Amino acid sequence: MFVQRPPLGWNTWNTYGAKINEKLVMESADAMVETGLADAGYEYVVIDDCWALHERDENGRLVPDPEKFPHGMKYLADYIHSKGLKFGMYSCAGYLTCARYPASYDYEWIDARTFAEWGVDFLKYDFCYHPVSEKSDILYKRMGLALANCGRDILFSACSWGSDHTRQWIKETGANMWRSTGDINDSWASIKLIAQSQLPVQEYNAPNCFNDMDMLVVGMKGSGNVGLTGCSFEEYRFHFSLWAMMNSPLMIGCDIRNMDEETRKILLNKEVLAVNQDSAGNQPYFANSDYYTPNEARRPDEPFFREYPLRMVKLAKLLDNGDIAIGFFNFMDEPCEDAVITPDMIGLPLSSGRTVELTDLWTGEVLRTDNGIIRGRACAAHGCQMYRAKVVDRK
Ligand code: GLA
Repeated sequence: MFVQRPPLGWNTWNTYGAKINEKLVMESADAMVETGLADAGYEYVVIDDCWALHERDENGRLVPDPEKFPHGMKYLADYIHSKGLKFGMYSCAGYLTCARYPASYDYEWIDARTFAEWGVDFLKYDFCYHPVSEKSDILYKRMGLALANCGRDILFSACSWGSDHTRQWIKETGANMWRSTGDINDSWASIKLIAQSQLPVQEYNAPNCFNDMDMLVVGMKGSGNVGLTGCSFEEYRFHFSLWAMMNSPLMIGCDIRNMDEETRKILLNKEVLAVNQDSAGNQPYFANSDYYTPNEARRPDEPFFREYPLRMVKLAKLLDNGDIAIGFFNFMDEPCEDAVITPDMIGLPLSSGRTVELTDLWTGEVLRTDNGIIRGRACAAHGCQMYRAKVVDRK
């Protein structure tokens, strides 16, 4: 299957971990529709780890834990589909999942068939407890092939955390998205660390096999399974904007049944979502004159989690209608006024006779640029500005 846009949805792991059940998942599917998330484009409802019994049945099939999922998975899939949504599940390329439930190594074909029969539309495929005798790419090729032959379109969401140079072989496996980072937690430190590791691998990102920067912590406020210190509203806005700008899948991780107004405002910002979902699928690039370029970042010998000094990161992305998305991301602990780029940096020379008009994607405010400098508003500490730049005639 070909996946044109970064998948959008919700996953149980960040908030609930092992504490999952049918009622929770059904209520979350309801919430997805009632809160407007579904209308905004979020469609996958994904059950992560800890849904199965510890033993397979006599036919070698995985068995949903009857205490957590008394009506089984087909029932849940039907319910989710009846809401116009899609159903995701989780397994792992090893003998056990990361939480030590049975996983799919040497059961790939049985499991792919089972998921297809249950009506699964999305499979997150983890990397714990895998046999050292098998190469990592083969582990993902095995499930990729089984899914491609299971008789149903199932989006393949690989989750090997970027290890073993995942980026070099993942597109061979049929994966539609690949986790390019370790696990996120609900803290500014985690957001910053992931950003640091992700900016240099952006060139591996493309439609049909998106770099997955991990699930969103927006709105968790320090609670739940990966809740830690929590983040400020400003930091959640930054996190969402950066993930959107980087073409990452956006899988919500908070309790969507109980979102506060601020969380809704972030997750339902249709203008920012439109940048993420833009149909051209172009790669974002650095518009910092004083910064490294992706080519400099790519060196065969570089360790994956290379440390870059993050200060003010300026990203731009050409959109399908000729507009340009521009994001200013202030990683520093103090405010920064340097939300400035020159038109040259986005390919707009003086000879074009054009300038840009900026629409602030968080406030709707329109700023006009006529003096040869594209200037956004200052960014708070850990804050960002997101604009859609429209090319207009110079006055
Ligand atoms: C790994 C993954 C997480 C989550 C857990 C479940 O750590 O990276 O996203 O799926 O396993 O055990």
